[in-house]
Amino acid sequence: MHSTPTTLPAWQLLTQHAAEPQGHLRQMLDGDRSERFDLFRTHAAGLTLDASRQRMSAAVQDALLSLADQAQVEAQRDAMFRGDPINLTEDRPVLHAALRGDPAQAGPWGADIAADVERELSRICHFADAVRAGTLKGHSGLPITDVVNIGIGGSDLGPRMASDALAHLADGPKVHYVSNPDAWALYAVLRDLKPEQTMVVVSSKTFTTQETMTNAASARQWLIDGGCPETSLRYHQVAITATPAKPAELGYAPEQTFLFWDWVGGRYSLWSSLGLPLAIAIGGSAFRDLLAGARAMDEHFTSAPLADNMPVLLALYGIWNRNFLHMPTHLIVPYASRLVRFTPFVQQMDMESNGKRTHINGDLAEVDTGPIVWGGLGIDGQHAYFQLIHQGQHQVPVDFIGVETEDTPLPMAGTHHNVVNLNLRAQAEAMAFGRSYEDTLAMMKKDGMEGPAAQAMARHRMFEGNIPSNILWLDALTPARLGALIALYEHKVFVQAAIWRINAYDQWGVELGKTMAKAMEQKNG
Ligand code: F6P
Repeated sequence: MHSTPTTLPAWQLLTQHAAEPQGHLRQMLDGDRSERFDLFRTHAAGLTLDASRQRMSAAVQDALLSLADQAQVEAQRDAMFRGDPINLTEDRPVLHAALRGDPAQAGPWGADIAADVERELSRICHFADAVRAGTLKGHSGLPITDVVNIGIGGSDLGPRMASDALAHLADGPKVHYVSNPDAWALYAVLRDLKPEQTMVVVSSKTFTTQETMTNAASARQWLIDGGCPETSLRYHQVAITATPAKPAELGYAPEQTFLFWDWVGGRYSLWSSLGLPLAIAIGGSAFRDLLAGARAMDEHFTSAPLADNMPVLLALYGIWNRNFLHMPTHLIVPYASRLVRFTPFVQQMDMESNGKRTHINGDLAEVDTGPIVWGGLGIDGQHAYFQLIHQGQHQVPVDFIGVETEDTPLPMAGTHHNVVNLNLRAQAEAMAFGRSYEDTLAMMKKDGMEGPAAQAMARHRMFEGNIPSNILWLDALTPARLGALIALYEHKVFVQAAIWRINAYDQWGVELGKTMAKAMEQKNG
């Protein structure tokens, strides 16, 4: 196994390709694009990846696929799915895929893990459906109308993102999310709620995270001040954790404590019991549909040949832009407003996984690793930071994410849909083609502007273009498609780490700040 990818022949070949004149996307895309679509378009699990606007030729793509092969990506993938302890610094397996395994078969991780997963999944789905049916009541005998999830990072971002993305399916108690320990964040939620009809879900893998424990204690006091006897708190408090002894010490009822395991990374935990708030919002069946969608992408990832493998290709396009075209950031812009939290979710997944500078063997990384992932809703970005993308000094590769069908029950929903997706397509084209100085001058001439003044102005109004992008299309915004989209990015992150030979599954970098905060807290008394 390579210790760093720079020693692989394909890495050398890609370095040569990058040193050659690449040509401009406006030449690569000029005329009939059917050949590029055949070369650079992939379908899997209801998603379509259109990478025809990547700044690459067939030869570069072939060299990238050789890199994946020489880096033994498939062998590394199989080791992960098999449950090998690939998280070497914590000596843990990485088995979030097991959380969405097919209940009808054990999977490569084995029957014991599959049984544990199905047990807890059944527990959270039954609990969610009982809360939704009103059969689980608060201390005063009234049904639960509101659920407040208290968690941060991976114990917040996933369920919160999915709750927004699937808001059209939310027909249960209203689910609220609080992550920030600033008092206002919790107050802004609690002030409108009735304690006797509110359930507080404390989501924390370690059950020690200071921010989460602060909010949990504050919400507990709010319940008590709202008339809940301390002996009845058990009906209003739920714990979701990998360390059940801690909530037990705090009086959480075992029947309202849900488990997951240390082989589930926080940023990969949406599929586990941490998905309970989402299951309460949309129902256990729809939650299982989300898992099934992710499983469909897992099955694609573990069976498709490299050249047709969507997570592998998405990872390789990112490596070409990051390591060979030297682009330090990566912009992710969904165009469907329900995906408003998708970028912050992927930001944690990618940057907390691949924000590393040490190879697995402990050597300082010889290659550029995780990019800075940023962005938000694309339509809003067009009226904000897209100026820098189009005319700034940074080359920023872009993932556009769109939904092909419209399900909003508004009379003019079709009109909205056309405006949104027209903008998505137009931006991808504008970034690729730009508008040359000569074309800008000609445009201005048509508007009656010529001579030195027009030439000077054209410098301000031209567009370099040549900005690479992917368009990821979901055929519909359903639990299954959302699950497939999330799993796609999880596996993309894995493949990049496998090629860079870094550990994507520890997060020692978050430790120092916590340690210092604790020390300051103790010093301040
Ligand atoms: O500090 C980072 C982190 O550990 C994330 O990895 C994790 O998702 C988050 O904090 C919350 O951790 P916990 O679920 O243990 O409260």
